Amino acid sequence: MNSIKVKAPATVANLVCGFDVLGMCLHEPYDVMEVTLTNDRQITIKSADGYQLPSDPAKNTAGAPLVEIMRELNTDIGFDVIIHKNIKPGSGIGSSAASAAGAVVAANHLLGNTFDKEDLVRFAMFGEKVASGVKHADNVAPCIYGGITLIRSIFPLDIISIPAPLLYITAVHPQIEVKTSDARQILRKEVLLKDAIRQWGNIAGLVAGLMKNDLSLIGRSLEDVIIEPVRSILIPGFDLLKKNCRQAGALGGGISGSGPSVFMLSADTATAEAVEREMKSIYEGIGLAYHTYITTINTQGVQVL
Ligand code: HSE
Repeated sequence: MNSIKVKAPATVANLVCGFDVLGMCLHEPYDVMEVTLTNDRQITIKSADGYQLPSDPAKNTAGAPLVEIMRELNTDIGFDVIIHKNIKPGSGIGSSAASAAGAVVAANHLLGNTFDKEDLVRFAMFGEKVASGVKHADNVAPCIYGGITLIRSIFPLDIISIPAPLLYITAVHPQIEVKTSDARQILRKEVLLKDAIRQWGNIAGLVAGLMKNDLSLIGRSLEDVIIEPVRSILIPGFDLLKKNCRQAGALGGGISGSGPSVFMLSADTATAEAVEREMKSIYEGIGLAYHTYITTINTQGVQVL
């Protein structure tokens, strides 16, 4: 076998309170990638979707991780990659991570599973560095491991899979683009101790709530006093959206990754649909184009087709 096709799913990073340390894999939307193993020490990348992404492997989020794999193996191998992207770049649901994670999982299969999942996250983070200027694993780790992951540390990598109850995710993507690098640039470099205490209480509460199937604790813990107050100014209608979705029965939610997508968690489909109606009504009121998704947690991550 020298060619393989994979489904690389969207992810929600941060999960509101866990900036850079928590992430969740979704069933929808997902990219499809075709990767071929060659023996000529080069990487070619083709987009089959109309997005103007760089074809230079060093500047492409799928290419950069493959460059690292080739560097580490240092043998006569190369890769041809075709990306069918459905996750819009700059949407906040892990578009760059899907390319990076899809590429490394596909390459690893073609190489006879030489690497373990932690290695794959290490490689995939080179793609995130291309996209946002820094390595972070809260999209690539859930994309590769599936489910919800806690990234306790990236140097050295320490990734913990967190079991979760059945939850429904409603996400809205207002059709504006927010670059992760810009959304990181505007953050304050220092936090107040009282805010840090509230934040780590919430992170611990969210993890405990997920592991204990305690929906009320999950809802109470979906609060971000550090990042959201700064980033939410980039998202039209954010405060109203959050208030109305909670009133419609959502457990809670907030900015997905670095935005502009916003996600909400619900305990059942009927609530997830009511939340979607609120999201639609707000963006129709503002007159801003949007896409919505209702989906569930994908416990498998990147899937070989
Ligand atoms: N944790 C990263 C951030 C995720 O919020 O900047 C980007 O998708």
